[in-house]
Amino acid sequence: MTGSLYGIGVGPGDPELMTLKALRLLQASEVVAYFAAPGRPGNARRIVDPHLRPGQRELRLEYPVTTEAVPTGTSYETLLVDFYDTGAKRVAELLDDDVDVALVCEGDPFFYGSYMYMHNRLADRYRTVVVPAVPSVLAGAAVLGAPLVCQDEVLCVLSGVLPGDEIEARLRTAGAAVIMKLGRNLPKVRDAVERAGLLDHARYVERATMATERVLPLAEVDPTSAPYFSMVVIPSRTAATR
Ligand SMILES: C[S@@+](CC[C@H](N)C(=O)[O-])C[C@H]1O[C@@H](n2cnc3c(N)ncnc32)[C@H](O)[C@@H]1O
Repeated sequence: MTGSLYGIGVGPGDPELMTLKALRLLQASEVVAYFAAPGRPGNARRIVDPHLRPGQRELRLEYPVTTEAVPTGTSYETLLVDFYDTGAKRVAELLDDDVDVALVCEGDPFFYGSYMYMHNRLADRYRTVVVPAVPSVLAGAAVLGAPLVCQDEVLCVLSGVLPGDEIEARLRTAGAAVIMKLGRNLPKVRDAVERAGLLDHARYVERATMATERVLPLAEVDPTSAPYFSMVVIPSRTAATR
């Protein structure tokens, strides 16, 4: 007998936006595992905090370094592969002891979520259950109060890490778009949006559904950098008129 691994999407930030299934499996699991940056509480861990049972066991999987602090001569990708390999071994030890593990993940686990790196390493050997959740993209549209996309329009989800020219080209053909992973990419993203002729329509959403949520026109944002929990949302112009 081995335990089950639950990949639990916990939604974009508001603890009330978790599904009933996520809540049930979270509370029923013996161990709650979560990823966290050094010195930080862990985004998903913070979201589920009000739902944990008193004394529930936890497994903190702490990233070796932040992206900003990678030692020279070291590849961040190699560090991450080692980190996920070690993390998967630690989770496997629990599963081998017939312990169920709930690995919590901000937003949806399979939508740019770190859970996938554990899933890829463990799903062939253990029972895994993935619990889908409200992804940040849809939370962004909801807090804007703007229909995102309609009828046969194409929604384009982009990473701010992409080259500016590619962001611009994709924006030109999309009916609506969301650009995630802003951080230090914000100036490049803002330029690409402006070149695509969409600056007047683009909105900046920070910490959607959290207590510190901010929503403002992209044109009014300090363009130097953005926090981790932020995105640009460009809703369909058509959807707003139907
Ligand atoms: C690694 S991805 C994780 C996405 C997540 N799995 C999901 O389903 O939304 C992290 C990016 O998601 C976006 N994000 C996640 N939660 C957010 C929130 N509450 N408000 C704004 N952006 C958010 C940010 O662009 C952030 O850089």
